[in-house]
Amino acid sequence: DLVSSRKASPCAIFSGTMGCGCLASELSFLLEPSDVIAVRERPLMLDCRVQGEEPIMVTWRKNGVPLPTSQRVQVLANGTLVIQSFQKRKEGSDADMGEYDCAAQNRYGMLVSRKAKVLLASLPKFHTHPLSMTVDEGSVARFQCQINGVPEAKITWEKDRVPLNNTDNRYTLLPMGILQVTGVRQADAGVFRCVATNPANTRYSGALRTYKEPVILSGPQNLTITVHQTAILECIATGNPRPIVSWSRLDGRSIGVEGIQVLGTGNLMISDVSLQHSGVYVCAANRPGTRMRRTAHGRLVVQAPPEFLQWPQSVSKPAGGSAVFTCVAQGVPEPHLIWLKNGKVLMPGHNVKLTNNNR
Ligand SMILES: *[C@@H]1O[C@H](CO)[C@@H](O)[C@H](O)[C@H]1NC(C)=O
Ligand SMILES: *[C@@H]1O[C@H](CO)[C@@H](O)[C@H](O)[C@H]1NC(C)=O
Ligand SMILES: *[C@@H]1O[C@H](CO)[C@@H](O)[C@H](O)[C@H]1NC(C)=O
Repeated sequence: DLVSSRKASPCAIFSGTMGCGCLASELSFLLEPSDVIAVRERPLMLDCRVQGEEPIMVTWRKNGVPLPTSQRVQVLANGTLVIQSFQKRKEGSDADMGEYDCAAQNRYGMLVSRKAKVLLASLPKFHTHPLSMTVDEGSVARFQCQINGVPEAKITWEKDRVPLNNTDNRYTLLPMGILQVTGVRQADAGVFRCVATNPANTRYSGALRTYKEPVILSGPQNLTITVHQTAILECIATGNPRPIVSWSRLDGRSIGVEGIQVLGTGNLMISDVSLQHSGVYVCAANRPGTRMRRTAHGRLVVQAPPEFLQWPQSVSKPAGGSAVFTCVAQGVPEPHLIWLKNGKVLMPGHNVKLTNNNR
């Protein structure tokens, strides 16, 4: 037997590498320190339980060097090492990361434990943030975020800052921080981000927005109406987030406010139209907060029925003289004047002349 024959002088048993065939009175480990990931500024405990004949003295080493005890670093009666507030490497102060082992000694000899690696938990910034994407309804969206945590971070997802509904089987979470959304619906649009958690920290990725660019489903038609009627110019747009619909005139003139109303979400209604309302109207659907927009045009033509401004007057003239009849009318489009004589259309001839728009 390796140990029992050498009781007179202390011997070391390196457990794990050589095995331990100790007698009851001699030293053996009940519990050896195991590898751990420590959290900064939190207490850390490393166990070292030994059985054997008392008195047993337990000491600890870090990276092969005896560890001095202090207020912050203590060895408990049961052999456990307690570091009150784990320290990260800092200039001028010791880092607590390293390889720790414990040594137990009684009058029969000394026993040294395995080396336990102590790492510091960390969660650096995300190195892959999810990317924004435009998704068609019914299609698939895939997002990924990546972070190197010690220990590995648990990744969950949030939509509009609310944890993702994980009972919804359209969402699939794969390792490596991948989120798949199948059968995308309008309701899926929003701000997604991933949340990484480990004992060191919790981090949120950059936010990503699924959006649909604005689309005008139906823009204004060309419309011809008569003064005092009501014009309705249609404009309906979709997108995610919901686009803002606005109206303007192509010639830059103001649409005004009197008699103007918006029907529904974006249709323009002009009551009691006048000739000034004629023009090309532009409906614009803007993605909120951006300059991204779609536009559609429609021409509104307002017509005015013919109206006489001046009528022919009765005249009497001697034979051989000239008689001039004047007739002025207005309207939109410009009225075409026809002269009648005793109910019959008067055509230009050798002694009849028509001027201006009568040609
Ligand atoms: C050692 O003692 C401390 C304090 O009494 C206790 O918290 C810890 O669990 C003990 N360790 C073992 C391995 O029994
Ligand atoms: C989660 O998804 C399931 C399945 O689609 C749905 O029935 C449930 O109402 C959702 N819960 C919430 C809180 O949205
Ligand atoms: C409206 O009229 C313009 C010409 O004024 C034409 O180019 C355009 O195609 C017309 N739009 C519709 C919807 O008919």
